[in-house]
Amino acid sequence: MQVDIITLFPSMFDGIFTESILKRAIEKGILKVNIINLRDYSLNKNKNVDDYAFGPGAGMVMQIEPIDNCLSKIQDLTNPFDEVIYTAPDGEKFNQKMANDLSLKNHICILCGHYKGVDERVREHFITKEISIGDYVLSGGELAASVIVDSIARLIPGVLHDEQSALSDSFQDNLIAPPVYTRPADYKGWKVPEILLSGNDKKIEQWNIEQSIERTKQRRPELLK
Ligand code: ADE
Repeated sequence: MQVDIITLFPSMFDGIFTESILKRAIEKGILKVNIINLRDYSLNKNKNVDDYAFGPGAGMVMQIEPIDNCLSKIQDLTNPFDEVIYTAPDGEKFNQKMANDLSLKNHICILCGHYKGVDERVREHFITKEISIGDYVLSGGELAASVIVDSIARLIPGVLHDEQSALSDSFQDNLIAPPVYTRPADYKGWKVPEILLSGNDKKIEQWNIEQSIERTKQRRPELLK
């Protein structure tokens, strides 16, 4: 999968793709990430990419020209974008189902919003999907883009050592994952549930399912509806 991220702050992605699972996905050639500086596609000599919003009220808006210029220059007709995503607090709320769907795509582009956002015509004419990672306002779309790419990448076959692991994640079947424990089995008298030490895999699986349902009922009852 190829992910092109268009941003005004490329260095915000330093570190995210050079550690852990994302690093491994890139090294294995399963994931390719291009960080693209929108300023490089500015059409004026000052490299501006934003201007004052029309009408009263303060605030800068990302202009349509550099975004149009950037998208047309980076598009690859032999590997077209399956989605052009815009990160914004008023987008569709991101969830595991969207991560699953996006993990099946070949090529996605993510445009990170900033300031008061992009000129509405960008959303109307270039964007195919608008994603919010939650009902709060970030100072820009870079953190949202990182969250989206991280959650997608771990679902691509070959990225995790144990593919079953992603399938048992919280939310995969509208259930929260069961609790997990590791050694020592007794720490200061706080014991691991007996069943997990029994060696009976069938019974443990059943216990895990019961725990998942119970936790979901308690913590996220709306998922069970
Ligand atoms: N940009 C600012 N806030 C955001 C949010 N909650 N989700 C996605 N992009 C954003």
